Amino acid sequence: MKKISVKTSKPYEVVIERGSLTRAGELISAVTTSKKCVIISDDIVAPLYAEELASSLSRSGISSSLFVFPNGEQSKSLSTLGQIYDFLCSKKLTRSDFIIALGGGVVGDITGFAAASYLRGLDFVQIPTTLLAQVDSSVGGKTAIDIPGGKNLVGAFKQPALVICDSDILKSLPTETLADGMAESIKYGMIKDSRLFDLIASHDLSTIDQVMDHLVYTCIDIKRDVVENDEFDRGERMLLNFGHTLGHAIEGWHNYTDYTHGMGVAAGMCMMSAKTAPEEVTERLKKCVEAYGLPTSTEAPMAELLPFCATDKKCDSDSINYIVCEEIGCGQIRKTSVARFGALMEG
Ligand code: GLY
Repeated sequence: MKKISVKTSKPYEVVIERGSLTRAGELISAVTTSKKCVIISDDIVAPLYAEELASSLSRSGISSSLFVFPNGEQSKSLSTLGQIYDFLCSKKLTRSDFIIALGGGVVGDITGFAAASYLRGLDFVQIPTTLLAQVDSSVGGKTAIDIPGGKNLVGAFKQPALVICDSDILKSLPTETLADGMAESIKYGMIKDSRLFDLIASHDLSTIDQVMDHLVYTCIDIKRDVVENDEFDRGERMLLNFGHTLGHAIEGWHNYTDYTHGMGVAAGMCMMSAKTAPEEVTERLKKCVEAYGLPTSTEAPMAELLPFCATDKKCDSDSINYIVCEEIGCGQIRKTSVARFGALMEG
């Protein structure tokens, strides 16, 4: 078992261990005295893992109830959040009880926001079941829902009480979902760790499982470091957005339907690199991205993407923060006017 201690305003541990889902009850008992919880999951993950989790909790004397919503970004809504609140209320959860997020990024984000807001806050545990959620969204305390005006526009910082990463679960992921997480993993290599980038570049989708534990550990450790330095996203944490300004725009242009977050981030990193980094850096990045079946560009015209960039959360008044990696392993935050950013990307 590997453990990472995250020293944020509320410290917690991330456990990385194959088969840890079956030990969830024991691991959770070490961080709470409550004997009651609600598991929140979606209709793809729950049939696969909810029973195993409930049995593990029960062996540790913890009773659980399960709330399931339809898989997909469209469920990260006010309507689902309302249903979650009603369910927590019907189960008479108190502030000393806790919630478990069992699923990918959507489940983790909405469950975290429910935990931040219901009864003005109660503990929650993240059990991420996708690579993207393990290496990114389950750690660091960003929680949110989407509203018609944009993705993740309503949310809160709420650190989990514990994160349990079972890399055995990743073996059952569809290839595209694994690739999605690889986009975020490549990002960590680009912004902070050239050795991690080299490791990822020396594998592809068929062999990456051989180094999965090391990969997950290294990515989370990078995120830990960044989040500890800037928990509330006012400075260094923006580095984690490499590829995301354009990536979110591409996802938005596609109405968040046929373009996944990882695909957007992959294309966004390559497009940003093409405008700001030496050619050899961009070529290495593109080769790596392609090895994981991810796109290096988009058919969306830049003029149509820029309005999405201007409404991004990384904007303040008329300026925009964007991330460049002139060298692999060394991300930098740049700030410019929205107009200049447009000229850079269209140039
Ligand atoms: N996913 C980016 C962050 O946690 O800041």
